[in-house]
Amino acid sequence: MKNQNNFYKSDILTVDQFDKKDLRAITDQAHKMKQLVKEKGGTDILKNKIMTALFYEPSSRTFASFITAMQRLGGGIIPIQGVAYSSVSKGEILVDTIRTFASFSDIVVLRHPEVGSARLAAEFCDRPLINAGDGVGEHPTQALLDFFTISGHFEGVKGLKVAMIGDLLNGRTIHSLSKLLSLYSPITLYLVSPTLLKMPAEIITRLKKRGVTIHESDELAEVLDKIDVLYVTRVQKERFTDLDTYEKFKLRYVVTPQIMKKLKTKAIVMHPFPRVGEITLDVDLDPRALYIREQIPNGMYIRMALLSLIFGVNNC
Ligand code: NCD
Repeated sequence: MKNQNNFYKSDILTVDQFDKKDLRAITDQAHKMKQLVKEKGGTDILKNKIMTALFYEPSSRTFASFITAMQRLGGGIIPIQGVAYSSVSKGEILVDTIRTFASFSDIVVLRHPEVGSARLAAEFCDRPLINAGDGVGEHPTQALLDFFTISGHFEGVKGLKVAMIGDLLNGRTIHSLSKLLSLYSPITLYLVSPTLLKMPAEIITRLKKRGVTIHESDELAEVLDKIDVLYVTRVQKERFTDLDTYEKFKLRYVVTPQIMKKLKTKAIVMHPFPRVGEITLDVDLDPRALYIREQIPNGMYIRMALLSLIFGVNNC
């Protein structure tokens, strides 16, 4: 089947562009990719296609999983991780950089510190553009892999009770994931953060409009025995102008084996990573800790799925 999916030649800028049917198509495709990697390691369906990965902000998992996704599908890469050695350091504007890489490649993946940068870049990019994180805005592909992980584990997401904890003000992964989950209401979200780092009000309003039940709190202990998913985030140091405030809140919530004892036996723990102390290492062996075993590899399958759908060669 060629060119008959919703993503053919499309940009991926925000989770707002997805409906349930899209999510089914992406997760079905990601399952196929998982199978493909297990059986054969890869394929050459994207032979002669080139992906630029242009990352203005640090990244390990997102960057490397896009790279390996493209390579496992047989495509080539222009990997720009950090722009210190590109013309950006000479003062080149985003729009010119994007037009340059678009002319060399067939798709551009962009991570940039400013909210809205991906949308702006897409206007000037005559190739599909994927938002790999725009400041404190969105991180749609992380939300897709988180959704894939949760829905795969629970065989659906309807009715789940999900706690998101940490820096809900600046954490773009939870901005995107909460909006994605709201498509499947009834969903209950427990938003646990210090008052200063609360989820932005406009996102809460949108979630409520979609029928999500929201509980806000600054105490983790209150929610532990109620939830199915504990989604932990780090306090986003790079978004703080006042480092004393960062220091004050950075380890406000730490998931330890003692905390794990209070979680349901069937609950799961997730984290987009990097973690900087919010989950202690001794939690990793707990079978409910999915961040390393499932979330990270799922990032590659989801990105393989998206690339194959965008290029319209989803029949592998
Ligand atoms: C996240 C990001 O960059 O937003 N990391 C990731 O992409 N897996 C989370 C974070 O940096 O805290």
